[in-house]
Amino acid sequence: MALLAKYIVHGGNKLEGEICLRGAKNSVLPIIAATLLNEGESIIHNVPHIADVKVMMDILTYIGCYAKMEDGTLIINTKNISSSEIPEDFVRKMRSSIVLLGAMVGRFGYTKISYPGGCEIGPRPIDLHLKALRQMGVEIEEIHGFIHCTKDILQGCDIHLDFPSVGATENIMLAAVKSKGITKIYNAAKEPEIIDLQNFLNAMGAKIRGAGNSCIQIEGVKRLHAVEHKIIPDRIAIGTYLIAGAITGGKIIINDVIPDHIQSVISKLKETGCEIELIDDKIKLVAPKILKSVENIKTLPYPGFPTDMQAQMMALMTLAKGTCVISETIFENRFKHGNELIRMGANININGKFAIIKGVKKLMGTKVRSDDLRGGAALVLAGLAASEVTEIENIHHIERGYECMEKVLNSLGATIKKA
Ligand code: EPZ
Repeated sequence: MALLAKYIVHGGNKLEGEICLRGAKNSVLPIIAATLLNEGESIIHNVPHIADVKVMMDILTYIGCYAKMEDGTLIINTKNISSSEIPEDFVRKMRSSIVLLGAMVGRFGYTKISYPGGCEIGPRPIDLHLKALRQMGVEIEEIHGFIHCTKDILQGCDIHLDFPSVGATENIMLAAVKSKGITKIYNAAKEPEIIDLQNFLNAMGAKIRGAGNSCIQIEGVKRLHAVEHKIIPDRIAIGTYLIAGAITGGKIIINDVIPDHIQSVISKLKETGCEIELIDDKIKLVAPKILKSVENIKTLPYPGFPTDMQAQMMALMTLAKGTCVISETIFENRFKHGNELIRMGANININGKFAIIKGVKKLMGTKVRSDDLRGGAALVLAGLAASEVTEIENIHHIERGYECMEKVLNSLGATIKKA
């Protein structure tokens, strides 16, 4: 992926049409880690062709696994795995590879992985992950930026998470699948991706129940077997393209949607005046002539409004009539897109975890820079509605989580070129 690639967006087109998207990035990444637990073949369908999946495949290949992707189907075989260490470069490239920690310890009773460190949206600590693994008997040494985890057989136990961390919940589930006894996670994350992980693990012979609720129980088993699975739809990609329709005054239909997964986004879009219709597994959005501001948007753990939709919603609010207050309660530094939107003529006041957005009549195309995945997507959305041309740099951030965004948007009538 060329680090200097950019999108050139000619704004002003109304988006109209129908699209179908592949599965959820935040579901497939922990599920790829879960394949380490079964020594057979895993066939995973509806996998998006995105950079983060490629990094996870490169890690598995590097440690001796077989990993091949063909038209959305990923085949992995971890029979011949040859190393229990995850090289530092990979973890630096993609911090969410920390989800390999639980699976590696569960498979080998040992792993060495570098501290993931912060990323563009905040420090991203893993204290909850490590505290839980220590409770399961894992000896953890942190030496020169590396985490050494050792434990032959993990012991199931009750774990109370101080915060319903998605990654910590996933790591505990993965470490507990082949542990001795029963592990209960209290105050677990309830995101749909956690349910998808439970379904994948149970399909390979694990005994997990409760995902989607705040208490998840995992009963350790000895053996796991080959598995075939289809990844759930990507609720964040779907929300992003719905906003592409809303911000351009368009009308779009997205197929293969689970409405329950995006209820909080649907309700906010209705508050802006969008008409939303659910027909079987399709969702249809018709934008209003004039967007109304949503008074308050507060990001919360699922089923609250998702932090991964905050930047996209901010872009939409820049052109809505009225004032919107966004509070970002999940990450410490997730407003960087705000300054870029201001360069396009938006009226945004950022103060700590609050952003106040006063709608303006129009945005002007200019050169902007994507600093993170969802912030970059927000700049593309703004560019779609802005006058003239918007150039978005550093689009490798966007390609981490969106498959060919320019192709999807051009199929709806946008004019975007990747240069
Ligand atoms: C997952 O990140 C997602 N990533 C994120 O999506 C998403 O924003 C986030 O969950 C919240 O929904 C993947 O699934 C790959 P957390 P994760 O642990 O697991 C603090 C995207 O754009 N925390 O729930 O890292 C942490 O600092 C990405 O697709 C601790 O303090 O999120 C943060 O403030 C971005 N200690 C908050 O919890 C810990 O040990 C939420 O983190 C762990 C987390």
